[in-house]
Amino acid sequence: MVQDNYDQSPHGFWSSNTMFVLAAVGSAVGLGNIWKFPYITGENGGAAFFFVYLICICAIGIPVMMAEIMLGRTGRMSPINSLLKIAREQGLSRKWGLLGWAGVGGGLVILSFYSVIAGWILAYVFRTFSGEFGGVDAATASEAFGDLIGNPWMSGLWFTIFLVATGYFVARGVNRGLELVIRFCMPLLFVLLFVMLIYGIAQGGFGQAFQFMFHLDFNNLGLSWDSLVIAMGHAFFTLSIGMGAIMAYGAYMPPESSIKSAVGVIVVVDTLVAVIAGLAIFSIAYADGLSPGAGLGLLFTTATTAFGNLWGGVVFGGLFFLLVTFAAFTSAISLLEPAIAYFVEKFNSRRAVVATVCVSVAWILGLLSVFSFNLLSNFNIEIGGEPWTIFAFLDHLSQWIILPLGGLFICLLTAWFLPWKTVGSTLEVRSLEGEVWWKIFAGVVAPVAIFAVFALTFF
Ligand code: PHE
Repeated sequence: MVQDNYDQSPHGFWSSNTMFVLAAVGSAVGLGNIWKFPYITGENGGAAFFFVYLICICAIGIPVMMAEIMLGRTGRMSPINSLLKIAREQGLSRKWGLLGWAGVGGGLVILSFYSVIAGWILAYVFRTFSGEFGGVDAATASEAFGDLIGNPWMSGLWFTIFLVATGYFVARGVNRGLELVIRFCMPLLFVLLFVMLIYGIAQGGFGQAFQFMFHLDFNNLGLSWDSLVIAMGHAFFTLSIGMGAIMAYGAYMPPESSIKSAVGVIVVVDTLVAVIAGLAIFSIAYADGLSPGAGLGLLFTTATTAFGNLWGGVVFGGLFFLLVTFAAFTSAISLLEPAIAYFVEKFNSRRAVVATVCVSVAWILGLLSVFSFNLLSNFNIEIGGEPWTIFAFLDHLSQWIILPLGGLFICLLTAWFLPWKTVGSTLEVRSLEGEVWWKIFAGVVAPVAIFAVFALTFF
């Protein structure tokens, strides 16, 4: 067992090791896996993209996640204060606290647009249960999706409901809020995902879907430089790393937990969920004559077409969207936690007050994303000659810049600035070999890879 400041967290602890792992899996598994992964894999050519993504997960994702949990567990406070405390104890600059601030800001930015998509999903729960999509074909399904995102009032309303619910449960605290949601949502999620996969297989498009995702054609990889950044950014996004969410969760880790085994489980489950969602969605897309590269409406059109034509589809389809809402919910609460924890420590105020303020900030920012699909759809931010809507801008800013930069500094801090004694004992790696591997991966491979991708994109 690790010697640590177990009793010092002002926010409480996960009630068991299983609960910690479930919470971290809940944070990792979300819209990134079920909505985003299939559509970006579809847009970037399939197998080759998936392969690059897997490399990013292993070479960058695993070290960053271990480092992040290690920092949280050592500091036992919000990411900002954990970093400040560690810096103070080790005689390092207070500037390391800025890393925590970047995470708080990044978390609010991500939460703002994340809730917009989650709002669409929530709308689909009700629309599907109402029977609206019975017998629908692909064209009508994509029209229905266009109608929703094009309507500022409707999408604004669902977005607001989702965000307020997130704030409410985060305000209730680690045990009465976060745990309650996670305990209930996560098991159901896995069951419903399998239902969707089985349906996909039964539709007959599974062979093509499998080929698309796993068959590497070395003569025609179909990868661009952009695909590399997209793959790396997504590795950060899907594992919830680089902004302190996992660091905050690490601070509430019970003393009997092991970081190594937790990270193993989180990474495997997160990847599996993405693969299952991808296979299910591509199978349905192929069977219904939709293209895997259909863009951000892919999940909405495939799932409604699939369930709309299935016996019991009203119930299963509604349940499916409910499941995705839960998955999004357990991620959204982790986006808010670093900010809430910090302001509670700083101002000694109640979680409810802090949550209200943070949710209001995310709401204002999120409205801009809601409007970027309708009222503000012609308002573009020009970067490198490319016009980006506000939504696309915030999405790219967080995944291509904030999260990787955060990850870069987290790795550098644990590999080169903190004494190995502290790092090794928290990670429960005590051999010399372990130290060497840590320095190679966290100290060299991950930072160089992140830096190389940055350089490729921007220069
Ligand atoms: N990992 C979450 C998902 O895949 C999103 C997320 C990103 C959550 C960053 C927390 C921090 O949906």
